[in-house]
Amino acid sequence: MEKTLVLIKPDAFSKHYSGDIIKRYEQEGLRIVAMKLLQMDERLASIHYAEHIGRPYYGDLTGFMTSGPIIAMVLEGENAIKKVRALNGKTNPAEAEEGTIRKQFATASNRNAVHASDSPESAQREIHIFFNETEIYDGEYKIPD
Ligand code: CDP
Ligand code: MG
Repeated sequence: MEKTLVLIKPDAFSKHYSGDIIKRYEQEGLRIVAMKLLQMDERLASIHYAEHIGRPYYGDLTGFMTSGPIIAMVLEGENAIKKVRALNGKTNPAEAEEGTIRKQFATASNRNAVHASDSPESAQREIHIFFNETEIYDGEYKIPD
């Protein structure tokens, strides 16, 4: 079982797409093991997007990501990291495959609805930017009687 960090970005959140997006992950068998609503500040954005500091789009990216509420969640499942990246689709929605979340809900490369970790190392790092261990469910995931 693998865990990955997903963010529903301010564009998708403000357009009330969160439910539809979460449903897509659940339909693929991914399990929600942590979730919260928050608004990122500049400091949090600079930690999460540290590898992008200095890029031409960095100011726009952090301005956008701090502009309103987001939903942060940890999804768990087999090959969760690759699976979620595939479900999200390419960074630029114009290049995203039919049926992907970005194809359906994103409007541009810089307004692209969702974030997901791209490797086990980034998943480990990114999950702990948003959640501490006690906030991540680690029990059985069964249907109650
Ligand atoms: O999010 P993803 O991993 O698909 O893409 P990335 O290359 O790691 O870039 C991170 C984020 O920076 C993107 O999701 C966009 O929000 C933003 N970005 C942008 O606004 N313009 C670009 N040319 C590249 C990235
Ligand atoms: Mg990335």
